[in-house]
Amino acid sequence: MAKHITDDQMKEQRGYIMRLREDNARYAAEYGHTRRALTETYGCQQNENDTERIRGMLRDAGFEFTDDMKNADVVIYNTCAVRENAEQKVFGRLGLLKPVKERRRNMVIGVCGCMVQQEHITEKIKKSHEHVDLIFGTHALYKMPELLYKAINEKKTVVDIAESDGAIAEDMPIMRDDAKKAWVSVMYGCNNFCTYCIVPYVRGRERSREPKAVIAEVKELVKNGCSEISLLGQNVNSYGKDLKTDIDFADLMRMVNDIEGVERIRFMTSHPKDLSDKLINTIAECDKVCKQLHLPFQAGSDRILKQMNRRYTKAEYLAKIEKVKKAVPNISLSTDVIVGFPTETNEDFEETLDVLRKVEFDNIFSFIYSRREGTPAAKLDFVLTDEEIHKNFNRLLEVQNEISLKKNKEYVGRIERILVDGVSKTNPEMLSGRCDSSKIVNFKGTDDLIGKYINVRITEAHTWSLNGEPVKEN
Ligand code: SAH
Ligand code: SF4
Ligand code: F3S
Repeated sequence: MAKHITDDQMKEQRGYIMRLREDNARYAAEYGHTRRALTETYGCQQNENDTERIRGMLRDAGFEFTDDMKNADVVIYNTCAVRENAEQKVFGRLGLLKPVKERRRNMVIGVCGCMVQQEHITEKIKKSHEHVDLIFGTHALYKMPELLYKAINEKKTVVDIAESDGAIAEDMPIMRDDAKKAWVSVMYGCNNFCTYCIVPYVRGRERSREPKAVIAEVKELVKNGCSEISLLGQNVNSYGKDLKTDIDFADLMRMVNDIEGVERIRFMTSHPKDLSDKLINTIAECDKVCKQLHLPFQAGSDRILKQMNRRYTKAEYLAKIEKVKKAVPNISLSTDVIVGFPTETNEDFEETLDVLRKVEFDNIFSFIYSRREGTPAAKLDFVLTDEEIHKNFNRLLEVQNEISLKKNKEYVGRIERILVDGVSKTNPEMLSGRCDSSKIVNFKGTDDLIGKYINVRITEAHTWSLNGEPVKEN
């Protein structure tokens, strides 16, 4: 069983939340307004979920929230290290904050998450961004109240990027973004060490939450009106390997499926090497599990897959996909793809395109390889030039866009049940929601539909979304 942060440690942090509360009340009495906090998140759903914890702690400590850095008293950036551009954005933001802080000396600037779990980044921040007051890594998240209290009161830079032995913190406060849909982390960390990837270094080893803790969280969510649950982990197929019980991810998903009030279950991410028949059958059999699978293949060439340490071949991947398609007809498939792994040649890249054409994913998340210091692939020399890599990347998009559009066209005429999220991001005159397969559906409707499940008839298909019209219930 994974180590847990003890009750006493959590109690200590609750004590700091209370101290911050008192501090904030004094501040409000003196300055005539409550201290305001701003949070920003980079990276994956895991990080989004962590920010919800950060906001929960801030709320309990008596902070209000703002989106405007100019009137924020506390700014916290929860960062991602997976690619260089995510890191550059944060450095850009810190640059913008410098003059703001010069005018407002009491402002507290914090950087946390995956990026600062790397020592060379923390050193760089300390050296070139002296206006940062607080730095804490992924393992110190639960300790934020104490670290923030010290940063506010001791007027010195507070740093905690210690590698922990992977202790799990339960019962941290949380302020969720969405009332209807929630992320629930089932495990943390990753043991796979794909040679390009920084995640295992910044998130530590795999550790699973106790099933009863996951179930309790889902039940609490349902009690508060939430009905769509996304189970999160870097490789959910490894769930339970470190538990005393023999419950695996498929069992856990069945347990969530049995909870009354849960309407939809999604999950990510599955590593192809560990995708079991049992999990495939569970997706097929559980009525609430959305018929959708994100199964990153990363690259099509066996030579590259080997150098990436992915531990499957192209043929094995395609065979798994066939199995999935057979067991769950009409399943919606998505994947992650990396273009330009250092040793990738144009021939290797053709194999990636071949996988796209054979599988016909509904959509893909594609990335240009980004060199990550400390990973094995960082030592490899590039075969292709930047220009060639970009050319391949654009070709990849071209091939996939055609497939995405074709897959979306298959939906025209169908009736789909969607959960209405809110105003459409692409057309403010429309609402949007997601269907079972997670495709975005835009439609004309009234605001009272937000947060509800409704049936829509799909009328039009685009590459990235569908249009529809609500179907009158009778
Ligand atoms: N655990 C998940 C997701 C990890 S990060 C998984 O294994 O699928 C999300 C995606 O970022 C990865 O799937 C990969 O496609 C991409 N990625 C990771 N490291 C990268 C790097 N150094 N350069 C470019 N893309 C990368
Ligand atoms: Fe990174 Fe690979 Fe782990 Fe995914 S499985 S987080 S790509 S090391
Ligand atoms: Fe980024 Fe950390 Fe997630 S590196 S992708 S935020 S686990």
